[in-house]
Amino acid sequence: MSRQEKLTEITNDTRIIRHKTPARLSHWLLVICFFTTALSGVAFFFPDFAWLATILGTPAIARAVHPFTGLVMFVSFLILVFTYWRHNIPEKNDLRWLKNVGEVLKGNEHEVAYNGKYNLGQKLLFWTLILAMFTLLFTGLIMWRQYFSHHFSIPVLRIAILLHSASAFALFTGIMVHMYMAFWVKGSIRGMIEGWVSVRWAKKHHPKWYRDEVLPKLEKEVEANRNAK
Ligand code: HEM
Repeated sequence: MSRQEKLTEITNDTRIIRHKTPARLSHWLLVICFFTTALSGVAFFFPDFAWLATILGTPAIARAVHPFTGLVMFVSFLILVFTYWRHNIPEKNDLRWLKNVGEVLKGNEHEVAYNGKYNLGQKLLFWTLILAMFTLLFTGLIMWRQYFSHHFSIPVLRIAILLHSASAFALFTGIMVHMYMAFWVKGSIRGMIEGWVSVRWAKKHHPKWYRDEVLPKLEKEVEANRNAK
């Protein structure tokens, strides 16, 4: 954990790393690609929203570019999956969150749950996103007129279009929830932009992560700095 001043004591304001630079860069590239891909996709799907295709220049450009931004979105998502999959495996301890989900929704999560790096809601969303992203990739390749669609029969293309639309809908809905939660939990967007959260934030929202993973590293850092004095 690198910081400018040497850490000699742990306080609630001590900064800790939540997301390293590669994860943050992948996440924001993913966000840009998500919006360009999703909005052009909506333009193709709903005639009333055809005007959205102009965000990529012209409808023809949007048609050509949509699969490529989709591919970049998939690759940047994959980087996040490799970075965080271990932290998203549900464990017995998550049952506390589930049993008290009513209190969680009232904003009392810190009183009833003992979350690791991610809470159960984030974990379930993570696996839903994986399912949606892989379905979008496979069906999208089948539907890609420029390169692949002529290899498939009409019934296969119809099924691919149906699954592509359904998983796009699931992804879009999931991301709306994800964005709402990101704005709701103060400090988490800064964590994804600047990389750090405070000890106070970690203790409140993800106490198990703080106790098991962060605190031992902080204590080592404090000890090393005191010995170096
Ligand atoms: C403007 C839109 C978005 C905002 C404001 C946002 C915000 C955030 C924030 C603040 C975190 C960190 C949460 C934490 O530290 O607990 C996060 C994590 C993450 N975000 Fe986003 N996000 C957005 C869009 C997206 C999109 C479009 C995707 C995928 C398609 C995505 C996938 C993820 C994933 C996979 C994580 C890691 C969470 C985990 O491993 O469970 N985000 N996001």
